Parts: sequence; C-alpha cells; structure tokens
Amino acid sequence: MAIMSVAGRRIMYLVTLVLLLCSTSVFSAPASGGWGNNTPTTTFGTCNKIYIRKEWRDMTANDRSSFLRSMNLILKKEGRTPRSVWSGAVSRYDDLVATHINQTFEVHYVGHFLPFHRYYTWTLEKMLRDETNYSGPFPYWDWHRDVGQGDAKFFNSPIWDPELGFGGNGEFLPVPAEQAAFAVPGRTGGGCVTTGAFKNMTVNLGPGNSFTENPRCLTRDMSPYFSGRYLSQNQTKITLQAPNFYAFDVIVEGGPSFEASGVHGGGHYGIGGTLGTMGDLYISPGDPAFWLHHANLDRVWWSWQKLNYPARLTDFGGPSCLMDYYVPGQTQKCANATLDIVLDLGYADLVKRNVKTGYNTTKEIKVTVEDVMNIRNMCYDYDTLLNPSTL
Ligand SMILES: *[C@@H]1O[C@H](CO)[C@@H](O)[C@H](O)[C@H]1NC(C)=O
Ligand SMILES: *[C@@H]1O[C@H](CO)[C@@H](O)[C@H](O)[C@H]1NC(C)=O
Ligand SMILES: *[C@@H]1O[C@H](CO)[C@@H](O)[C@H](O)[C@H]1NC(C)=O
Ligand SMILES: *[C@@H]1O[C@H](CO)[C@@H](O)[C@H](O)[C@H]1NC(C)=O
Ligand SMILES: *[C@@H]1O[C@H](CO)[C@@H](O)[C@H](O)[C@H]1NC(C)=O
Ligand SMILES: *[C@@H]1O[C@H](CO)[C@@H](O)[C@H](O)[C@H]1NC(C)=O
Repeated sequence: MAIMSVAGRRIMYLVTLVLLLCSTSVFSAPASGGWGNNTPTTTFGTCNKIYIRKEWRDMTANDRSSFLRSMNLILKKEGRTPRSVWSGAVSRYDDLVATHINQTFEVHYVGHFLPFHRYYTWTLEKMLRDETNYSGPFPYWDWHRDVGQGDAKFFNSPIWDPELGFGGNGEFLPVPAEQAAFAVPGRTGGGCVTTGAFKNMTVNLGPGNSFTENPRCLTRDMSPYFSGRYLSQNQTKITLQAPNFYAFDVIVEGGPSFEASGVHGGGHYGIGGTLGTMGDLYISPGDPAFWLHHANLDRVWWSWQKLNYPARLTDFGGPSCLMDYYVPGQTQKCANATLDIVLDLGYADLVKRNVKTGYNTTKEIKVTVEDVMNIRNMCYDYDTLLNPSTL
C-alpha cells in the first residue's frame, strides 16, 4: 500500500469511525404475475406485467393487510441459509438480513450502494410474490408526507398504524453512557415495538456483525427532528439536482456522521435512532420499515434517472471499495465502480439459485449493476415520481 496521504488518513479515520459506530451497534421482487415464462430478454426475464409500487397509505386496506400477512409468512418461513454457515439465520427473512450483514462494508459508501439496494428490495418483492402469493403493490414511504410538520404528524403516520401498519416507536430508554457520543439528535424511544403487525416479531441476528442466534424484539428509537432535517423536500431537492451519478450517490449516502447524513441516513436514524434496529448499519433490514424507506430511496434514484432519460440508464460511478472516494491529487486504492460489478445476495439470491423457467439453470446467472439500471426490465415502476422543480 502506498504511503498514506493526509486525505487518505482522514478517510481511514472516517472508516474507523464507521467501524466504531457499528461495533457499538449505534450506526448507524413468480408463481404468477409479471415475471414471465417466455424466453427472457433480460436477466430478469420478460415482463408479462409491470408491478406499480405505491405509497403505503395509497394502497387499499386489503392490500395493506395482505402485505403485512405476507411479510409475517416470510418471517416465519424456514430459511435457506444452512445453520452451519450462519447459525443465527433462522427464517427466510433472515436470509436477507444475513446477506446484508455479510456485505455491509462492500455495499455501503460505494458506487454500487444504490444498485445493490435496488436489487435487494426487488428480491423481497419477488419473494413475497413467489413464496406467499402476494399480488398487491409493493409499498414505499413518501417521507415528505410525514416529516417536518411536527412530532404528532410523524408519530401518527399511517405507516406506523397500530392495526394496519408497521407499529410505532419503542418506549423511551436512555442511551448507555458508553454510547453517549452516538446519541441521535432528537431521539425519543429505544424500546420494543409493541403495536402493529410486527409487535411479536423476533430479530434473530446481530446486533452489529454477529451471525449467532440472538432472539430479541424489534426496537425503534424515532427522531421526528432528524427525519425533518434530512428527509424534507429541501434535502430531496438538493439530491435530485445532482449533475451526475457520482455526485448523486455522494449526496444520498452522505458521510459517516449524523451531521453528514443524506436522505439515506435520514430514514435510518429518523426511525432507528441510536437504540433501534434501523439504526444498526448491519442489521437494519431487520426492521420491516427498512424496505419502505429503501423503496422510496430507489424511487428518488429512478426519479433522478428519468430527469435525463435515457442517458442516465448508463450514468454510473463512485468508488468500488469502502469510502474510496476520488479526491483531486490523491491516489485511489481501488478502481472506480463500473456497470460490470456483480451483485450477489448469497442465500437470499433468487435469480442465481431459484430461476425456474425460461432460463438455462445449469448456467450460473450473475446479476450486475447494468442489469438493475432500468427498473422496467425488472418488471416494476412507481405510481408517481419526484421532480426538483416542484419541490
Ligand atoms: C400460493 O398459491 C399456490 C397455488 O394456488 C398454492 O399451492 C400455495 O399453497 C400458495 N402459497 C401460499 C403461501 O399461500
Ligand atoms: C403476540 O404475543 C402476545 C404475547 O405473547 C400474544 O398474546 C399474542 O397473541 C401474539 N399475537 C400474535 C399476532 O401472534
Ligand atoms: C431543510 O429544512 C429543514 C426544516 O426546516 C431544516 O432543518 C434543514 O436544515 C433544511 N435542509 C437543508 C439541506 O436546507
Ligand atoms: C474515478 O472517478 C472520478 C470521477 O469521475 C475520476 O475523476 C477519477 O479519475 C476516477 N478514478 C479512477 C481510479 O479511475
Ligand atoms: C459473504 O460475503 C463474502 C464476500 O463477499 C462472499 O465471498 C461469501 O460467499 C458470502 N457468504 C455467503 C454465505 O453468502
Ligand atoms: C445449458 O447450459 C449448459 C452449460 O452452458 C449447456 O451445456 C447446455 O447445452 C445448455 N442447455 C440448453 C437447453 O440450452
């Protein structure tokens, strides 16, 4: 390794900070439907139908209820991950959580952060459709409807509905002294989620990068303040104004401190705070709210792509290894990320391991960033998109 420059050391410091934050657990898409049986024209097959994602509260009560029921089926279904590989991966849902833990430092603060999470979210959608027969829309959380309009508005969001929603905040718990430096501004909770469809859910993996079975409740530590600061229309507007993908990714991901958060951190800390599942960089998908937030993040990316379409179907960049951002005059440790980067979801992977029809299953199919640049090729889209000129 080359002699480390001052900027290099600063970046190493940031990486150390991320590790430190994580070690204290503070940091913080069929059996039926659109995926057809015809000769595939893309890695994801031919779309018989485009599934339109909707905001949670715009879904019918029936669809919301089916969605929550299907999520609970995935939470209870036996996983594919051999216990000999990761002893704590119990359920089908844990296949997803475990693969996120395993790749935490390969898929965050890199150019392929958004592509990975697009494919990751698509995989849950497909799991729900193929393995539980869910046929409604996949939901997203439009932050702008809930944030920056007072605490009551945030806490009373239909997302957190105690009957037909994801449940609310945990009771307030003080941050332990050793985590005092990581208290998320405006945090209000920390305890178990006691309402909604996931009040009885068991989080098996973590905290942090632990793969051993550690059954406990789902926790939330919401900060309406933090959400208001980083998920408001003004922040989304700045994000959507990015001139190229590299800049877009940097604004979305922000830096590894609370003040340097972008919209990505805004959702994680706004829901997970310091003591909540969503605030733990490794096991954040352990909170089902993760998918609502990431679907909206994906919607922001797709909105940005559509602002200069089709040019932005190939606009891609950023570092290929953790925080290896380009700094003028400095040498990068790794090559920049390219459209060829392979996205692998381990035992949660459906394309590589579970393709049934239309594919030659003896041939290993690898999903790359290029495969996920156009969501229409993945047989989904959004009901509404965002435009910075109206924010
Ligand atoms: C999904 O539908 C198929 C075919 O109707 C049925 O065999 C299967 O049991 C259903 N699965 C679930 C989880 O409901
Ligand atoms: C959740 O757990 C409580 C307490 O153990 C139990 O009374 C209740 O029936 C459970 N609810 C569901 C939906 O499993
Ligand atoms: C956006 O507005 C919120 C609420 O007024 C404020 O806290 C935040 O600093 C603003 N963000 C930006 C990037 O201007
Ligand atoms: C990475 O991308 C940046 C921004 O486009 C560019 O300036 C830099 O030279 C690239 N680095 C490498 C190692 O190719
Ligand atoms: C965990 O991640 C490593 C590095 O990406 C990968 O080689 C390995 O196959 C992954 N393990 C599983 C079980 O997916
Ligand atoms: C499937 O792929 C294997 C290995 O590439 C090849 O030998 C075989 O002929 C292919 N089968 C079909 C039906 O295309």
